[in-house]
Amino acid sequence: MLTTEENELICRVGPGTPMGDVMRRYWHPLIISDELPEPDCAPIRARLLGEQLVAFRDTNGDVGIVADSCPHRGASMFFGINQECGLMCIYHGWKFDVNGNCVDMPSDIPGSNFIDKVHITAYPTVESAGVIWVYMGPKEHQPPPPNYIFNNLPADHVIAFRVPIYCNYLQSMEGNIDSTHLGTLHVYHQDKVPVDLDSDKPGYPSAKFSLYTRAKYRYARVDVQDTDYGFRLIAERPTDQGNKHIRTNCLVLPYTAFIASQRSGSGGVLIQVPIDDETNQRVGIRYNVKEPFTAAERRSTIEQGALMDPVDPKKRMKRIDNDYMLDRWAQKNTVLAGIWPIPEQDYALIETMGAIYDRSKEHLYGGDAAIIRCRQMLLSMVRDFQEGKPLPGLDPSVQTQKIRSEEIIIGPDDDAWLVGADAGENTVRGERLR
Ligand code: FES
Ligand SMILES: [Fe+2]
Repeated sequence: MLTTEENELICRVGPGTPMGDVMRRYWHPLIISDELPEPDCAPIRARLLGEQLVAFRDTNGDVGIVADSCPHRGASMFFGINQECGLMCIYHGWKFDVNGNCVDMPSDIPGSNFIDKVHITAYPTVESAGVIWVYMGPKEHQPPPPNYIFNNLPADHVIAFRVPIYCNYLQSMEGNIDSTHLGTLHVYHQDKVPVDLDSDKPGYPSAKFSLYTRAKYRYARVDVQDTDYGFRLIAERPTDQGNKHIRTNCLVLPYTAFIASQRSGSGGVLIQVPIDDETNQRVGIRYNVKEPFTAAERRSTIEQGALMDPVDPKKRMKRIDNDYMLDRWAQKNTVLAGIWPIPEQDYALIETMGAIYDRSKEHLYGGDAAIIRCRQMLLSMVRDFQEGKPLPGLDPSVQTQKIRSEEIIIGPDDDAWLVGADAGENTVRGERLR
């Protein structure tokens, strides 16, 4: 539970807000590279931390992210023409490069030097893992570009997609570190049938056995370990043979979650980027260290992750105004949520809490340990930042490329932190990170 003031403090991210200032010290994944498929292609609208932006790829292939408001008299740059290394406002022809410099002003009196005095707000970008990342903070504090495992893999080993979620980022992020909902919201009734019981031994379980265990043992003991980027959490469930089923997830502040994967060497990451106070976008990244994804895997990951409305492809197909296409018969017979696929189950529950959920009225229990720690850390970030202290994860010494999450079974006497958590961080069982 938070006070109303604390809730407001960590949820609101617009320009000039305390959390908005904190967020502006990090790189943000904003758009998918394929949305700007070639040099001089059409610019697109974007929005981040409450600022309306336009993204374009110039003649050299470099990406510019600029304010969607021309510094002359405020016309929308979205209508601009992208050619010859710049985006030209079609009101009076002022043209800007990816760095925000005005490079042409054909409507000014010949001989004038006014062009040298004008800039459009432009933010630095980097492109990796099939994503365009943006930094919106002070230039002198710009951190090194994102350096997770997926930023260092060949393009065909990574799949990235983005999808709009119609509520505050924190609701989405709390869902991503909430282990105890797996045995309810995401259960298909068929998961309750025992399957792959020979998986019940130390090592990596089969996906089906994990689903069975989560459906049978619907609680999880949640434990949290602080790290220099946020925390790792362990969710421990019993198994039928008396072993321990361990899921290790990592929260990288301010809003990235490495989700326990059922296969060593592959993983899924959910990044809940605040678009504004009442909207966020999930940037989902799947990676496989060992082999490239097939075309079919790529297609199904994107389709399942972002089920868009064929009539209006910018909106999700399942939304609050159609009750997420809830099927009451399915609730009792096939899938407990009555909604599918799995991401839509999450979206339905977090969006219907309200645009900014009021955390002053809830009742938290032991299974919410990670959510409680996450909120404490966000509040500390704001307060530390105001006192001039460093923010987590930004120091170049932080080994973000080593962050891993996974799902494994350990023996009854094994210590989950020594085996489970460290295996997650290294992908090698039993080997410690440091
Ligand atoms: S408003 Fe853009 S050039 Fe005048
Ligand atoms: Fe979920």
